[in-house]
Amino acid sequence: MIYLILFLLYAVVLSVALWRNGVRSPSKIAVEKSAIQPQNILIIGATGGTGRQLVAQALERGFSVTVLVRNTAKMDIEHPQLKILQGNVLDSATVDAAVQGQDAVVSALGHKQFFRPTRILSEGTRTILQAMEKHNVKRFVCETSLGIGSSAGRMGLYYTFFTIPVILPFYFWDKTRQEKLIAESAADWVIVRPGVLTNRKKRIKIRHGADIGNFITTVNISRADVAAFMLDQLTDDSNIGAAVGICW
Ligand SMILES: NC(=O)c1ccc[n+]([C@@H]2O[C@H](COP(=O)([O-])OP(=O)(O)OC[C@H]3O[C@@H](n4cnc5c(N)ncnc54)[C@H](OP(=O)(O)O)[C@@H]3O)[C@@H](O)[C@H]2O)c1
Repeated sequence: MIYLILFLLYAVVLSVALWRNGVRSPSKIAVEKSAIQPQNILIIGATGGTGRQLVAQALERGFSVTVLVRNTAKMDIEHPQLKILQGNVLDSATVDAAVQGQDAVVSALGHKQFFRPTRILSEGTRTILQAMEKHNVKRFVCETSLGIGSSAGRMGLYYTFFTIPVILPFYFWDKTRQEKLIAESAADWVIVRPGVLTNRKKRIKIRHGADIGNFITTVNISRADVAAFMLDQLTDDSNIGAAVGICW
C-alpha cells in the first residue's frame, strides 16, 4: 500500500513538474503578414511515422521539400520536388546546410531511447533553431505532445499514472526543455501537441486548441491528421507563438 501511495505521489509530482517546465501560457506573437508564401520547406524526422505523412502531404500541396535523415535508405518516397540530405540533428554542420535557403522548418523529431536520460529532442531542436536564426528562417512548426506544460494531464489517466511516469519520464522531461527552447527562440513558432498517435486515415473533423485533451480518457489522433494540421500552420498565422493541442 505504501508503495502504491509513493508511486501515485511520484506521478502527481512529475505531472506538476511537466506543467511547470513546458510552455504554459498562450503567448501568441503578432507577426507581420508575409507577402511571400513558404515554398521551400525542411522536414526533420521524415523517416518517422508523422514525418512520412508530412513529406507525402507537403509534396501533394506543391511544396519543394528537403529532408534531413540519418539513413537515406529509409527514405522510400521519390519525387522531383524532394531533396534528400543525409545528416543528424545533433550535427550542426549538416543541420546548417539543410536549413540554408528554406522558408520554413517542420519537425516531427522523435526517438525510442526511453529508459535513460537523453537530450536528443532539446539539443536537436537547439541546433535547428540556431541554424534558423543564422539563415533568417522564421517559421518553425514542431510536434511535441499533450502532457507537457499547459496540457499536463490531458493525455488521460492511463498516460498520467502509467505510461508517462513509468516509460516516458526522461523523454517527456526532454520535451519540456525542447518546448522552452522553442518559446525562447526568435522564430515564429507553433508547437503542435497531439494525443496518442495512430496510423489511421485522416478524419474530416479534428479538435485543436489550448484546452484540448482529456484528464480521464486517452485521446487519439492519426499521424495523417497531425501532418495536415502542421502543414496548415505554414500559411496560417493564427497560432504563431502558441502551443496547440490536437486530437479527434
Ligand atoms: N507515439 C505517440 O503516441 C505520440 C503521441 C504524442 C506525441 N508524439 C511525438 O510525436 C513525434 C513524432 O512521433 P512519430 O511516432 O510520428 O515519429 P517516429 O516514428 O518516432 O520518428 C522520429 C523521427 O525522428 C528521427 N530522428 C531521431 N533522431 C534523429 C537524429 N539524431 N537526427 C535526425 N533525425 C532523427 C527518426 O529518424 P530514424 O528513422 O533515423 O530513427 C525519425 O525519422 C515524437 O516527438 C513523439 O514523441 C508521439
